[in-house]
Amino acid sequence: MLVPMIIQKKRDGEELPSEVIREFIQGYVSGNIADYQASAFLMAVFFKGMTDAETAALTEAMMNSGDRFDPADLGGITADKHSTGGVGDKISIPLAPIVASCGVRVPMMSGRGLGHTGGTLDKLESIPGFRTNLERDEFLRVLNRFGVAMIGQTDRMVPADKKLYALRDVTATVECIPLIAASIMSKKIAAGPQNLILDVKVGRGAFMKNRGDAERLARAMVAIGTAHGRTVQARLTDMGTQPLGHMIGNSLEIIESAEFLQGRGSDDIRELTTTLAADMLIMAGKAVDHTQAMQLIETALTSGSAFKTFLEMVEAQGGDPSVVQQPYSLPVSSRTITLSSSRAGWISGIDPMALGLASVELGAGRTKKEDDIDPSVGFELLVKAGDRIEPERELIRIFYTKPPSQELLERVRNAFEFSEDKPVLKSLIIEQILPER
Ligand code: URA
Repeated sequence: MLVPMIIQKKRDGEELPSEVIREFIQGYVSGNIADYQASAFLMAVFFKGMTDAETAALTEAMMNSGDRFDPADLGGITADKHSTGGVGDKISIPLAPIVASCGVRVPMMSGRGLGHTGGTLDKLESIPGFRTNLERDEFLRVLNRFGVAMIGQTDRMVPADKKLYALRDVTATVECIPLIAASIMSKKIAAGPQNLILDVKVGRGAFMKNRGDAERLARAMVAIGTAHGRTVQARLTDMGTQPLGHMIGNSLEIIESAEFLQGRGSDDIRELTTTLAADMLIMAGKAVDHTQAMQLIETALTSGSAFKTFLEMVEAQGGDPSVVQQPYSLPVSSRTITLSSSRAGWISGIDPMALGLASVELGAGRTKKEDDIDPSVGFELLVKAGDRIEPERELIRIFYTKPPSQELLERVRNAFEFSEDKPVLKSLIIEQILPER
């Protein structure tokens, strides 16, 4: 079918046959379909949606657009995790080495920054020398040796997601259930893990703003994974109250991840990382229940074995592990501005969307697909929701390279929300979604 006709059919809300979707994806990957046509197609899907059959066909076409692994290729029990994207969400970075050091292999294929959210690959690449573009053999070598490898899509592995993801990032076509489901599940199935936990973010700082949509996305992904013989579960977690942890920005989030692996770090990072890691250990059969899984995780953290695994993986993927051990030797800007509060009160929330967008404006994300990101910029939150503060208390440190405008500073200040009374905060972990029987 002619490419303009495919776009037109989707624009007019027609259901596309699987072979047409496959043709479109193959055409885009081979360069016969232009970025502007793919952008128009994505926008048509954004507005008209996709049926379950179309979403399954899109996932399949993306997954088969390059090399792929089956669980049996990975030589052991495997589990992986993926988040639908949040602000300050660096959970994959400490979680993967924790799970690996508990004896479960983690073949993790992640993404870059998307919209207002940061990406695991961009964060890892802020470690000088770290390579996320490993091809098949090198990926297997690192995985076999250290039990974990963290990579991205390449021209040979899920190239369709590599190209579409970069396009969606800058064309306002991210917040769309079939596109997110196909993007995540094509990567995850192609990388080969048998078990997969999905962290589906919900709230104003997430792509899914309400619980109904988040549940629909979670169920769609669980169903796709199950149809491909994988064990998939999801957790819905809050991305409405505030960003995760204290750091937002690429190097800054590596620093926070390394600190957590060395026994420091905020309660929300600990709660989410350990809960999802425990899910993975149970799914992989390493623990019978959460109590036993938590004991394994605690030992991995306190013995230093999880941090050691992280350093080994960093080195194996070309990064400089000494930089992670002395975190402020990572590229972090020395130019900072600290904003303080003009009032007393309780912090009831910190708008994650406002800070996510502001971090992109500082240079931590892209506005064109060719943009380089600036690993050295971002934010350090000096308070969290639930803190009681007095006037003049420092709220946030801004790391910048190009001086931020007054307007941006004002938006950042306004991200902090106050209440007179102690706020009752939402639980971070909202709901667990299991496969239907
Ligand atoms: N993560 C992905 O890999 N893809 C999306 O579309 C959203 C989050």
